[in-house]
Amino acid sequence: MQTQTLAPDTAGLEIASALLASGGLVAFPTETVYGLGADATNDMAVARIFEAKGRPRFNPLIVHVDSVTTAKTLVQWTDTADRLAAAFWPGPLTLVLPLKANSPLSALVTADLPTLAVRVPEHPTARALLARFGGPVAAPSANPSGKISPTTAQHVAAGLTGRVDAILDDGPCDVGVESTILGLWETPILLRQGGLPQEAIETAVGAPLATHQADDKLTAPGQMLSHYAPGAKMRLNANKVDAGEALLGFGTVENATLNLSPAGDLTEAAANLFKHLHALDAQSPGTIAVSPIPNRGLGRAINDRLARAAAPRD
Ligand code: TXA
Ligand code: MG
Repeated sequence: MQTQTLAPDTAGLEIASALLASGGLVAFPTETVYGLGADATNDMAVARIFEAKGRPRFNPLIVHVDSVTTAKTLVQWTDTADRLAAAFWPGPLTLVLPLKANSPLSALVTADLPTLAVRVPEHPTARALLARFGGPVAAPSANPSGKISPTTAQHVAAGLTGRVDAILDDGPCDVGVESTILGLWETPILLRQGGLPQEAIETAVGAPLATHQADDKLTAPGQMLSHYAPGAKMRLNANKVDAGEALLGFGTVENATLNLSPAGDLTEAAANLFKHLHALDAQSPGTIAVSPIPNRGLGRAINDRLARAAAPRD
């Protein structure tokens, strides 16, 4: 398959939308990371996502929609969902809610779970594509399964050329880590740390959030421990760098090969995380040592991704 790169202009969006409508795969930018999109109502198209990524079929996908109104046609909406959507959509928050019985979605999207993960992205090109296509778009991150997520079109091309029909290139993603995933059971539960800080959601719901346990397969089927894996080994919370290591720094550290944020800014660090991991991985160091990252705000998502990148691989 030839992979074409498209500009995020009217002509590019027209081609991307037509490809989606005919069952094709289109990688597109969101504010978090690039997504690998397909028509969420088309079984064959959704199956191609799993094939292109080498993703296990039991790991469900996030559906991207243009509005709360469309989300409500797919899931059983609640007051809490209303409050959170009003506060944070469009933006880097995914809500998991019970799937509506008559939803038009392919069963592959939810991996046959009774729930659906749905979000309204903020990126103007993602929004323009959703508007033009006019239906729900299933999109996991546009990387081979288990590898580092893509925050540029070049990252997507490096991992998936020949496996996707087109890549809409609109430069680097602003947020740089995937959306925060919140399960709206009777009590909301944080299923994945991400681009919307836990603290912001807690302020909106007026209570501390329960977080999911790593072994809870039922509520978070895709939270594999080893993920985002670079070729190199990872050594976390490194206060100094050993011989032969590359150092991914944060704040005022010496000898950093690359620094997530010399100023110690967590927003900047999140935006640089995958970009720097891709760049360091390309240098094939034996080990990537990483400075300690404060575990607050976006630091929680950064630490989650780093822990998975460092986890034992099988
Ligand atoms: O920022 C993002 O969320 C990006 C962009 C493209 O939107 N997408 C993304 O998708 O990160 P993906 O597939 O890489 O991660 C989605 C996660 C997986 O861990 C999956 O298991 C979980 O969402 N998920 C999907 N549906 C679920 C459900 N019904 N219940 C619980 N977890 C679900
Ligand atoms: Mg992913």
